[in-house]
Amino acid sequence: MQFENMFYLDHCRDIIKEQILDLLDDCDDDFYPPLRKRVFLSEKCVTSSEINNSILRYYHWIMDSSGIIVEEGNKVIGFVAYTVSPDCLYVKNILVAKNHRNRGIASKLYSMILEVNRTVCIRTWSINQTNIKLLEDNGFTIKEIIKDDRGDGIDTIFYVREK
Ligand SMILES: CC(C)(COP(=O)(O)OP(=O)(O)OC[C@H]1O[C@@H](n2cnc3c(N)ncnc32)[C@H](O)[C@@H]1OP(=O)(O)O)[C@@H](O)C(=O)NCCC(=O)NCCS
Repeated sequence: MQFENMFYLDHCRDIIKEQILDLLDDCDDDFYPPLRKRVFLSEKCVTSSEINNSILRYYHWIMDSSGIIVEEGNKVIGFVAYTVSPDCLYVKNILVAKNHRNRGIASKLYSMILEVNRTVCIRTWSINQTNIKLLEDNGFTIKEIIKDDRGDGIDTIFYVREK
């Protein structure tokens, strides 16, 4: 298994880009709400019927980031995408292919991210038990909870790990 640090995801080889898109597509329903239904902050003024719900929009948002790609047998099996500002490193997404989960891949990605000497922030949803366990194991604490933000009884949780 190989962990490759990319300065900018959109600069990676076309084959890698295709595999990232396939991975997002395969795992779309693991997210709440699914990625294809995400409304970006800049689009909040647009009515939902006007938004072209597509995984491609999410993919382009992800590729406009730095990241670490995990490959095995010439196949992308996971990645983390993040942006860095002077204040913090914000994790946009962390994803591991379904058939490679529970092998410690995300745990290793979090530990690589945390080597950066910065405060790290991420948001997740309240029923994402696996990710919440990983965040709490890595010393993240809850900064804010937005009740029912993702639907009835499903909150958005902002986690922070101070540097
Ligand atoms: C969250 C995700 C990235 C974790 O990836 P992973 O490589 O399987 O994670 P790891 O193997 O490093 O660690 C998983 C840990 O969660 C635990 N776990 C697995 N299922 C669990 C569950 N239902 N509830 C609580 N803990 C769970 C595992 O036992 C393991 O802990 P351990 O190492 O102490 O035994 C992966 O499940 C995924 O891609 N999910 C869909 C996308 C997602 O939710 N991303 C986060 C968006 S904010």
